[in-house]
Amino acid sequence: MTDIVILAAGKGTRMRSALPKVLHRLAGTPFLQHVINTAERLAEPNINIVVGHGAQEVKAGVNGDTDLSFIAQTEQLGTGHAVQQALPKLSEEASVLILYGDVPLISESTLLSMLAKVSDTSMALLTYELANPSGYGRIVRNAQHAVTAIVEQKDARPEQLAISEINTGVMAAKGKHLHTWLPALSNNNAQGEYYLTDIIAMAVADDIEVKTVSADSEIEITGVNSRVQQAQLERSYQLSQAQTLLENGLSLLDPARFDLRGQLTHGEDCEIDINCVFEGKNSIGNNVTIGANCILKNAKIGDHVVIKPNSIVEDSELGNECVIGPYARLRPGSKLAEKAKIGNFVETKKALIGKGSKVNHLSYVGDAELGEDVNVGAGTITCNYDGVNKSLTQIDDGAFIGSNSSLVAPVSVGKNATVGAGSVVTKSSSENQLVLTRAKQRNVDGWQRPKKR
Ligand code: UD1
Ligand code: CA
Repeated sequence: MTDIVILAAGKGTRMRSALPKVLHRLAGTPFLQHVINTAERLAEPNINIVVGHGAQEVKAGVNGDTDLSFIAQTEQLGTGHAVQQALPKLSEEASVLILYGDVPLISESTLLSMLAKVSDTSMALLTYELANPSGYGRIVRNAQHAVTAIVEQKDARPEQLAISEINTGVMAAKGKHLHTWLPALSNNNAQGEYYLTDIIAMAVADDIEVKTVSADSEIEITGVNSRVQQAQLERSYQLSQAQTLLENGLSLLDPARFDLRGQLTHGEDCEIDINCVFEGKNSIGNNVTIGANCILKNAKIGDHVVIKPNSIVEDSELGNECVIGPYARLRPGSKLAEKAKIGNFVETKKALIGKGSKVNHLSYVGDAELGEDVNVGAGTITCNYDGVNKSLTQIDDGAFIGSNSSLVAPVSVGKNATVGAGSVVTKSSSENQLVLTRAKQRNVDGWQRPKKR
């Protein structure tokens, strides 16, 4: 079992926000949720989150696959005091990891290296070398290079301020050691706080070796205190995700203008133009081209699909060789069979579009089932809502819907039937019928226009 304590009680004053800091987002996910997700990948995680400012909101704002315990810290008396609140939840035998709700990108592999260094005779500390260590606690080592203490910036002597190895805050130790050390902390320091960092000197006094782990990259250990730092971390993270995708063979025309807020799996030879945003779980097949400014959320895209610029696809599926856009909007439940086409200014919702069917211009197709090779003319509307209920429109294979038609659901159009342009269709038709509902045209000879009085 791994006991985990995540500190999340602080207010985050510098965010200048009514929202608790740990609920602010990185890549679309709250900071604290990132930490929970990573912690849940460890062996038998027992996750304890110390909350204070906005406790109720924080509790409601995150979730876990495991049972999350929330522990109240009503007054923020320091990081050591925060972990003390969680002590009753920590077993003597387990290894305990201490994480921060505002350090979202800590990696599973780093946490595993730390846990590997925890034993009855040792504990682990995550450190990092920074060119500008200002603001952080400094790692003090003796002549043998062994860690002897952490000194906070505000308590440091001038020569200690010159130390570039900093405390990231992340630590791991045996539960029984924390049970001994934490109750012994004092707040006799520059900030009048109970410093978690003081347990390092206690470990040294108890002959418990302090083993350090160095983080792989700075983004892993970066905490967010302001919106400036949030924006910087977001860009660094996006760039690192883009880098990974490029290395995996996905073409991004500009990795600096690409945002992934979730997952994206892809096949070979796909190309993504600038300013696309991917949210949730997305998969794209082989040879897919996505134009500029597209947003995909939980989209499943087949092979040889072309998504032209400025299109939005949400909770929808596109079969092989589909073409959509520019300016297509596929709302949840749109399912396109292979070779279907959705053109500009077309909105679909809960719509099955059969193989080879086309809705090319300016239409709304909602709560509809279209067979194969259907052609829907410009400006066609499925009138799916009568103000109370939603109803279905069914259009059979090979039907042709003339431009500017309204299909008042529930209604069906028969196989190979033709609906004349401008029709308001309220009755179902059968195979091969012509449906015409518009008034007959009259041409009046010699018509005089009204004159100005
Ligand atoms: C802490 C470390 C410092 C380290 C730095 C890394 C201590 C004493 N110092 O300093 O060595 O370099 O983190 O960023 O630990 N929190 C609570 N309850 C509290 C106090 C804090 O939950 O009573 C939470 C905060 O919400 C925050 C985290 O603990 O997420 C760190 O607190 P913060 O005050 O930012 O610590 P630092 O002073 O930066
Ligand atoms: Ca502080």
